[in-house]
Amino acid sequence: MARLVIVSNRVSPLRESGPMAGGLTVALQEAVKRREMLWFGWSGETSERREPRISTVGNRTQALIDLTSQEHRLYYTGFCNNLLWPLLHYRFGLAQFRRAEEEGWRAVNRRFAEQLLPLLREDDTIWIHDFHLFPLAAYLRELGARQRIGFYLHVPFPPPAVFAALPRAAALLRDLGAIDLIGTQTADDAEHLSDALRQEGVNTPVGVFPVGINAEAFARAAATAALRKDTQRFAESLGGRKLIFGVDRMDYSKGLPQRVLGYADLLKRYPQHRGKVTFLQAAPISRGEVTQYRLLRREMDELVGRINGEYAEVDWVPLRWTTRPIPRRTLGGYLRVADIALVTPLRDGMNLVAKEFVAAQPPEDPGVLILSHFAGAAREMEGAVKVNPNDPDEIAEALDIAINMPLAERRERWRLDYDRLAAAGPSGWSRSFLAELNRAEFSTTG
Ligand code: ADP
Ligand code: F6P
Repeated sequence: MARLVIVSNRVSPLRESGPMAGGLTVALQEAVKRREMLWFGWSGETSERREPRISTVGNRTQALIDLTSQEHRLYYTGFCNNLLWPLLHYRFGLAQFRRAEEEGWRAVNRRFAEQLLPLLREDDTIWIHDFHLFPLAAYLRELGARQRIGFYLHVPFPPPAVFAALPRAAALLRDLGAIDLIGTQTADDAEHLSDALRQEGVNTPVGVFPVGINAEAFARAAATAALRKDTQRFAESLGGRKLIFGVDRMDYSKGLPQRVLGYADLLKRYPQHRGKVTFLQAAPISRGEVTQYRLLRREMDELVGRINGEYAEVDWVPLRWTTRPIPRRTLGGYLRVADIALVTPLRDGMNLVAKEFVAAQPPEDPGVLILSHFAGAAREMEGAVKVNPNDPDEIAEALDIAINMPLAERRERWRLDYDRLAAAGPSGWSRSFLAELNRAEFSTTG
């Protein structure tokens, strides 16, 4: 089998340990477990050092480059997170465009191409990930790369009219013509992207490959984690109350303020639940250098304080709030102990937390997933209680339904979703994408 070369901005650690808050690294960690591969990307550090740091464990090699602080500011903080992220999540009002950032972003993509090229073998399959690296394939082709190139978009793609607000959107779309196959999370994303490409006369095929999880392995790990001391201590601290759990990177796409307001509405409109439930929201700080994210943190700190101030009893804290990451092993245990998962992004490519919660639940007494209509996962998770995440009242009503849901209905809903997750099999997502890429015509290299 040909070597797989993965390229992404963020790279998972070679050894699976510690927190990995981010769907891309979690999904890929699973995907590349057994295959010979080279993973090229940003080290997460800034320095003036140019050469990649190369390390190998078994048949997996990583080549990581540092960014200079200027590259980091223009490419990552600027163009990726201040512009592309809000645009792709249908939040153009939050996007800030600066020409220098676009240029910095292109320069980093060119640098990725230049530094990756000497590491490539002729028969490699290259798989580029996410919006940070939209033009990378075009730069690789310019430099003479003839390998098969796939691209996967982990985040949503908005309707072409929204995307067109981006200055030089057409040039970006034409760059995608250098790719042999593009994968998206949902049919809507594929349709929007195909339409946008067609308008520019670009014929790259676009397919739908929803990111999954290894449900059976996650279930086993969660069952083991639930027996460990830290989970048991946590479970005991709930004092027999039902646990509502939310866990997300602290990102404005996740609908966190609306979510905690929904919980506050539950306590207000359904006072019978006061003192009977605890809501734990974990939201590790993400992209803390971006203004919108700093503002969100301030808003959340204030909201959580206000809600607790209003509803807490001397022996009951209604809303527990932590901005520290939770180690992955522990997270599985918490997801198992939870009675309700509150997953209410305003817009999300997929949302793996929704799938992890279902996988972690005990089959004999499963909890209830409350899921936003606007998460990619909503397409697949038919057993979830669906909500419009913009409406705190609707969140409160869904919480009341979930708290009161009889066991038989919980089992039925959970079974539907678990079976679907398990049917995809471990690494079904990457296998089906790579198989399709293998079949794709070499549209760009003849
Ligand atoms: P995104 O890619 O936008 O971060 P996803 O829900 O698809 O969203 O993926 C997030 C991944 O990161 C999941 O695997 C989840 O378990 C993990 N994660 C999210 N929040 C935390 C946290 N507080 N601590 C540890 N892991 C987290
Ligand atoms: O899943 C979408 C995504 O943007 C990934 O590309 C990224 O790794 C993850 O969210 C976390 O964001 P960041 O890498 O900016 O911390």
